[in-house]
Amino acid sequence: MSAKQPRMAASIHPRVLAMQFLGAIAFLSGIICSGASDPPLTLDYYESSCPTVFDVIHKEMECAVLSDPRNAALVVRLHFHDCFVQGCDGSVLLDDTVTLQGEKTASPNINSLDGFSIIDRIKNKVESDCPGIVSCADILTIAARDAVILVGGPYWDVPVGRKDSRSASYELANTNIPTANEGLTSIISKFIYFGLSVTDTVVLSGAHTIGMARCENYRARIYGDYESTSGGSPSSEARLSKLKSTCPAAGGGEDNIAPMDYETPNVFDNSYYNLLLNGGGLLNSDQELYSSVLAIQTKKIVEQYAHDTAAFFQQFSESMVKMGNITNSDSFVNGEVRKNCRFINT
Ligand code: HEM
Repeated sequence: MSAKQPRMAASIHPRVLAMQFLGAIAFLSGIICSGASDPPLTLDYYESSCPTVFDVIHKEMECAVLSDPRNAALVVRLHFHDCFVQGCDGSVLLDDTVTLQGEKTASPNINSLDGFSIIDRIKNKVESDCPGIVSCADILTIAARDAVILVGGPYWDVPVGRKDSRSASYELANTNIPTANEGLTSIISKFIYFGLSVTDTVVLSGAHTIGMARCENYRARIYGDYESTSGGSPSSEARLSKLKSTCPAAGGGEDNIAPMDYETPNVFDNSYYNLLLNGGGLLNSDQELYSSVLAIQTKKIVEQYAHDTAAFFQQFSESMVKMGNITNSDSFVNGEVRKNCRFINT
């Protein structure tokens, strides 16, 4: 499928959008990123310099997802973890070297983030068509969109023109990326910091309709309030005991995995939200969107998407563009198009 890229799309400056939420979350005012006047991302950025780029990425993603549908989840998550650290600038793709500490060993990423070889493969193909033209950050953003389509999710146009950073931040990867057990308010504030709203938080969490989580990330949930939120029906009890058998309370089995949406783990649909209505979310961060005492606003949004797939798809598309437009101002000045996504150019 080739994407028509006819319109201009403005990039989002974290500070501008975050301002909208400052009234409600005044304590955040000291930590909002400063955004400069970055060039806008556009839909037709590669129209003359690399007209095949969207087709090449789509074909490669098709192969990757056909060989294993989990690959769709890996790429979508990679894009999220890229954008939440210095903006969407390909920083997450950088390997550690003697002069650069990358983000891959930061605690939300280590033993967890994967899919780098898929991006390498796409980059090789794109470089052979259009050497030195397409940034790794754009490749990852487009690949994430294609990943969603390939497992049944919505299509959206992807604004492009990002540059790759010449730096990464291990520290920001540790602080900016939300974790499963940190609490709803803290998670929402991390989205607001980037100019994303409560609605964006709930709808982007819907990406957990695909993919797997490791025991270390759901242990607190299954030995915590899983039983009370899921109501103790025979089927939920059976599921809970299965989860417990592969994820012991006392430790061990840290890397054993379970699907976050056990109904349709490889399909991008709204069953994640129905799971939350039934109290069966796998991660604390998932179930809290519906069951936390603080979930007044988020609960309504969960209910809406549980009942209305079209509304979920429409908002997910818009919010993915919004997340993808978190720019790294510095990369427009000092950034580059990397030759190899794992290393800055020499
Ligand atoms: C709302 C805050 C979020 C939290 C706390 C969170 C946390 C997590 C955790 C703990 C895992 C499992 C990782 C592991 O066990 O190795 C995971 C997996 C995943 N996350 Fe999130 N996430 C959040 C938001 C998002 C967003 C915004 C996206 C994308 C738009 C996303 C996409 C994914 C995907 C696709 C997976 C499955 C990856 C796989 O199969 O390996 N998550 N997330």
